Amino acid sequence: MALSFVFWLSFFHLTVTYFASSMQQQPTCRDDERLALLQFKDSLIIHKPAFSWDPPAHPKVASWNLQETNSDCCSWDGVKCNEETGHVIRLDLSSSCLYGSINSTSTLFRLVHLQWLSLAYNDFNSSEIPATIKHLSRLKHLNLSSSHFSRQIPSELLDLSNLVSLDLSYNYYPPTNLELQNPGLRSLVEKLTNLKVLNLRRVYIASSVPHSLANLSSLTYLSLEECELQGEFPAQIFQLPNLSFLSLSFNEDLTGYIPSSLESGNSLTFVDIHSCNFSGTIPSSIGNLTKLIYLYVYFNNFSQICHDDDRSALLQFKKSLIINKTDFPWDPSAYPKVASWNLEEENGDCCSWNGVECNVETGHVIKLDLSSRCLYGSINSTNTLFHLVHLQWLSLADNHFNSSEIPATINNLSSNNKLQGNPGLCGKPLSKECEHFEPSKKEDEDTESPFAFDWKIVLIGYACGLIIGMVLGHTLWTRNHEWFVKILGCKRMKKKRGRRN
Ligand SMILES: *[C@@H]1O[C@H](CO)[C@@H](O)[C@H](O)[C@H]1NC(C)=O
Ligand SMILES: *[C@@H]1O[C@H](CO)[C@@H](O)[C@H](O)[C@H]1NC(C)=O
Ligand SMILES: *[C@@H]1O[C@H](CO)[C@@H](O)[C@H](O)[C@H]1NC(C)=O
Ligand SMILES: *[C@@H]1O[C@H](CO)[C@@H](O)[C@H](O)[C@H]1NC(C)=O
Ligand SMILES: *[C@@H]1O[C@H](CO)[C@@H](O)[C@H](O)[C@H]1NC(C)=O
Ligand SMILES: *[C@@H]1O[C@H](CO)[C@@H](O)[C@H](O)[C@H]1NC(C)=O
Ligand SMILES: *[C@@H]1O[C@H](CO)[C@@H](O)[C@H](O)[C@H]1NC(C)=O
Ligand SMILES: *[C@@H]1O[C@H](CO)[C@@H](O)[C@H](O)[C@H]1NC(C)=O
Ligand SMILES: *[C@@H]1O[C@H](CO)[C@@H](O)[C@H](O)[C@H]1NC(C)=O
Ligand SMILES: *[C@@H]1O[C@H](CO)[C@@H](O)[C@H](O)[C@H]1NC(C)=O
Ligand SMILES: *[C@@H]1O[C@H](CO)[C@@H](O)[C@H](O)[C@H]1NC(C)=O
Ligand SMILES: *[C@@H]1O[C@H](CO)[C@@H](O)[C@H](O)[C@H]1NC(C)=O
Repeated sequence: MALSFVFWLSFFHLTVTYFASSMQQQPTCRDDERLALLQFKDSLIIHKPAFSWDPPAHPKVASWNLQETNSDCCSWDGVKCNEETGHVIRLDLSSSCLYGSINSTSTLFRLVHLQWLSLAYNDFNSSEIPATIKHLSRLKHLNLSSSHFSRQIPSELLDLSNLVSLDLSYNYYPPTNLELQNPGLRSLVEKLTNLKVLNLRRVYIASSVPHSLANLSSLTYLSLEECELQGEFPAQIFQLPNLSFLSLSFNEDLTGYIPSSLESGNSLTFVDIHSCNFSGTIPSSIGNLTKLIYLYVYFNNFSQICHDDDRSALLQFKKSLIINKTDFPWDPSAYPKVASWNLEEENGDCCSWNGVECNVETGHVIKLDLSSRCLYGSINSTNTLFHLVHLQWLSLADNHFNSSEIPATINNLSSNNKLQGNPGLCGKPLSKECEHFEPSKKEDEDTESPFAFDWKIVLIGYACGLIIGMVLGHTLWTRNHEWFVKILGCKRMKKKRGRRN
C-alpha cells in the first residue's frame, strides 16, 4: 500500500514536472525585465514624426501594458526572449515614433541579456549615448541610425567587444552631431575586432583612417561617408577578403589610391569613393573584381588616362568646327560641349571632357556625344573624328553638320551613330538621298536608344554638377571583361558644411 502510494506520488510528480516544462516552452517574461521595459516606455513620448520614414513608423511600445492577457513581455511588439531563460535578448524599436531624452539612468540598460538592439529612426532629442550602454555587454548588433543622438560617442560603447554590427549613421542634426574623436576611430577599430558591419556615415570623425582597420578581416560592409576624414586611406582595405560594400564619398581631404593588385577572389561589389582626393590611376586589376557591379569614382584627383592620339584627334576635330550659340539661346541643350575641350591646367585629360567617355584601362575614347544644336562643320573623310578607332557610340545629332556625302568610314566608328537633326547631312546611313537637298525637312528619327550598348550601363544623371553614377552590369564583368568608368568633366565639387565649435 505504502509502495503503491509512493509510486502514485512519483507518477504525479513526473506528470506535473512534464506539464510544467511543456508550459515553459512558451517563455514568460521576467518581472524585472518587464518592469524595465515599461519604465523605458514611460520615460519617452510617442509622437508621429511629421515626415514619413520608409518603412513607415509605427509605435510598437503602444501595445506594451499589463492587461491580463498581455503581461508576458516576450510577446510584446519588438521584443524577443530566449526560449529557455525568458530573458529579453532582442529589442527592435526601429521606426517606433519614440521621442525624448535618454540618460544613464534609463532602465533600457537593465536588459543586460540583449544581443540585438535597434533604436533606429526615432528621436532621442540630441541625447548623448549613455555610458551605461556598457551593461549590454552581450550585444552583437547595435543600430542607432537616424535616432538623433549627439556629441562624443562614449568609450564605454567600445567595451561592447561582442559587436558584429554597429550602425551609428545619420546622427547629424546641426548644430549637434555624433562625434568619434576621443576616443576616435582608431580605438573603435582596435577594440571592436569582431565587426562585420560598420556604418559611421555622417559621424564627425575628422581624423585619419587607422591602418588597423585593415586588420578587421571579417568586415563585409564599411561606410565612412561624410566623416571629414583626412590623411591617406589604407589601400589594404580594398583587399580585405570579405569586404563587399565600401563607401567613402564626400571626404574631400582623404587621399589615397586604388591598389594595383586586386585578386579575383576579392568580394567587392559596391565601391563609392566619389568626392574624395584619391589619386594615381585606376588600375587594370579592377578588371579582376568579378563581383563588382557599382563603381563610382567621380570628383577625385586621378591622373590623366586619356590616350595621346585620341586627345589630339579631338582637339583637331574641334578646330574644324564653328560654334554658333546664337541659334537657340534659350535652349539649355544648346550648350557647346566642345567648348570645354582644351589643354588648360588640370584639364588635359580628354576622358574628363564634356561629351567624352573613355575605356579607363586603355584611355581610348569609346563614346562621343556632341548633340548640342550649335555646331557647324563639314563631315568628310579628312576629318580626324575618324581617327577615334575605338569609338563605339557617336552622336552628332541636332547640329548643323553638312557634307556632300557621309563618309563610309562612319560605319566603322560605331554601330549606333546618331546623325539625325543635321539638315545638311545626307546619304547613308541616313535615309535622305543627297541629290534632292531639302534643308528644312527633318531627318527620319533614329529609333536606336542612346544607350543601346551590348553591356548594361545606366547613367544616373547627365549634367555637370549633378551627381553622376554608373552601374556596371554584372554581365559586363563576367562576360567580356570590358569595363570603363566615366569621369565627368567638372571640377571637383567642393562641399563644406558648417561645423559647431
Ligand atoms: C529635449 O531636450 C531639451 C533640451 O535639452 C529639453 O529642454 C527638453 O525637455 C527635451 N524634451 C524631451 C521630451 O525630453
Ligand atoms: C535622467 O532622465 C530622467 C528621466 O528620464 C530624469 O528624471 C533624471 O533626472 C535624468 N538624470 C540626469 C542625471 O540627467
Ligand atoms: C539600422 O536600421 C535601419 C532602419 O531599420 C536600417 O535601414 C539599417 O539597415 C540598419 N542597419 C544595419 C547595419 O542593419
Ligand atoms: C594588425 O595585424 C598585423 C598582422 O596581422 C599586426 O602586426 C598589427 O600589430 C595589427 N595592428 C593592430 C593595430 O592590431
Ligand atoms: C569570409 O567569408 C567566408 C564565407 O562567408 C567565411 O567562411 C570566412 O570565415 C570569412 N572570413 C573572415 C576572415 O571572416
Ligand atoms: C589632394 O591631395 C594632394 C596630395 O596628394 C594635395 O596636394 C591637395 O592639396 C589635396 N587637395 C585637396 C582639395 O585636399
Ligand atoms: C588578377 O587575378 C589573378 C588571379 O587572382 C592574378 O594572378 C593577377 O595578378 C591579377 N591581376 C592583377 C592586375 O592584379
Ligand atoms: C591632385 O594631386 C596633386 C599631387 O598629387 C596636387 O598637387 C593637386 O593639388 C591635387 N589636386 C586637387 C584638385 O586636389
Ligand atoms: C549663326 O546663327 C545665326 C542665327 O541662326 C546665323 O544668322 C548665322 O549665319 C550663323 N553663323 C554661322 C557662322 O553659321
Ligand atoms: C572636309 O572637312 C574639312 C574640315 O572639317 C573642311 O575644311 C573641308 O573643306 C572639307 N572638305 C570638303 C570637300 O567638304
Ligand atoms: C558646310 O558648312 C561649312 C560651314 O558652315 C561651309 O563652309 C561649307 O561650304 C559647307 N559645305 C557643304 C558641302 O555644304
Ligand atoms: C571598315 O573596317 C573594315 C575592317 O574592319 C575594313 O575592311 C574596311 O575597309 C573599313 N571601311 C572603311 C570605309 O574604312
